[in-house]
Amino acid sequence: MTSKYESLAVLLKKLSDINYASGLLQWDQEVNMPEKGGEIRAQQLSTLAGLSHETGTSSEMENLLSELIGDSKLDDRQKRNVKEAYRNFTDRKKYTTQFVIEMSTTVSQGFQAWQQAKKENNFNLFAPHLQKLMDLKLKECELLGYEDHPYDALLNQHEPGMTTKQLKKLFSDVRTQLVPYVQTLLEKKKIDDEFTRQHYDKQKQWDFGMDLLKQMGFDFKAGRQDLSSHPFTINFNSRDVRVTTRINENDLCEMIWSCIHEGGHALYEQGIPFENYGWPSGEFTSLGIHESQSRLWENNVGRSLSYWKYNYPRLCKVFPDQLKKISVEHFYKAINKVEPSLIRTNADELTYHMHVMIRFEIEIALMEGKVKVEDLPQLWNARYKEYLGIEVPDNARGVLQDVHWSHGSFGYFPTYSIGSFYAAQFFRQAQKEIKGLDQEIDNGNLKPMLLWLREKIHRHGRLYTSNELCNAITGKDLDFGEFMEYAKIKYEQIYN
Ligand code: CO
Repeated sequence: MTSKYESLAVLLKKLSDINYASGLLQWDQEVNMPEKGGEIRAQQLSTLAGLSHETGTSSEMENLLSELIGDSKLDDRQKRNVKEAYRNFTDRKKYTTQFVIEMSTTVSQGFQAWQQAKKENNFNLFAPHLQKLMDLKLKECELLGYEDHPYDALLNQHEPGMTTKQLKKLFSDVRTQLVPYVQTLLEKKKIDDEFTRQHYDKQKQWDFGMDLLKQMGFDFKAGRQDLSSHPFTINFNSRDVRVTTRINENDLCEMIWSCIHEGGHALYEQGIPFENYGWPSGEFTSLGIHESQSRLWENNVGRSLSYWKYNYPRLCKVFPDQLKKISVEHFYKAINKVEPSLIRTNADELTYHMHVMIRFEIEIALMEGKVKVEDLPQLWNARYKEYLGIEVPDNARGVLQDVHWSHGSFGYFPTYSIGSFYAAQFFRQAQKEIKGLDQEIDNGNLKPMLLWLREKIHRHGRLYTSNELCNAITGKDLDFGEFMEYAKIKYEQIYN
């Protein structure tokens, strides 16, 4: 006789099959799909979303979960799996089918309006859609429920356990510590990074990026890389993980760090135990932890001097003309240049968090009714002036630059910063625990780093929350002070 636990496994796997099938359609849409395929693809995706909702809220699922949630015969691991599956189930149940459909339609229309608005540099085309999305999101918060602040309900979807109150404190630390620190760096002598913007052959960049992925430990028998306009990572199980990168022939940096960043996401997915497919223990734990993996590889490893001691001579072999006058020390400084900029995705490791902070403050102001949608461009530009000291020339490069709000993704941006702060904290711990880590990286041996992450984070899937993981690994909660310390040691050296 099959146990209830095994029956639940069958059902959860079926749900995962549906969700990952729709993930594959999305990947294909971004990477391969011909232009005319879009219309029916949207319908196919919405059919699968409906099927997923039905399966995920079925009475069969409900019965099994209700019986298993109090089952004392389960071991601790099984109990965790059931508890988390139950939490997902009750969250899904809070949505009516009508709401799911309304949200999906509003998002489709909002996304199209945003594309048009950005292209024409006309915020007014997007404003009514953004208003509608905001209204629906507030409704969603009421459906999901929260204790303190409606934004908590949204945070809970991306970073379970994180509260608005904690985030307000975190970003007030960013404002009072990081903003003035960056100011002191900007007063120093400017670093010359002009050489990164010469012509770099596309195919040669691609080959070099593939090499970097291999070196990190990306398993090409369990994944592949392709090109897309916006780099991303998606997986269909831990043995099929797809990354994409983009190549700018006039800027060497875009490909290299998008490649390492997505590679970091991919290593996390490839490290989640295959046999846990379908269960929460077969899924990543939170967006913040996911981003901690990409950021750790991108910044703490991929923008370190050690990493380039090994890789810079290799890069010089690929681009001897472009780099012949540049020493590895100069290269290292150039790739870490701190400079306020307009576009979040191109920002350096430090000013990046000001971009995130501005979006967080705006989302909160919108939810608290302190700003009207029509006044967003004005607020956006004022904050860029205040925190980054720059004038925003137009809305396309201002309030319209990111896709997230058109997708209805509110409460998502903060996970980018949280991830970087976790990354700094984890990496410092790794340096304490892995003997000679820096020397290993000097020699191009990244295996000890990967094995440490596999052991501490990847293998657990969603059995632990991000806060539990952070405490188990570093003995304390997320601590912004660790990031500031990392930044000060690194940038004091770079800027003398
Ligand atoms: Co990322």
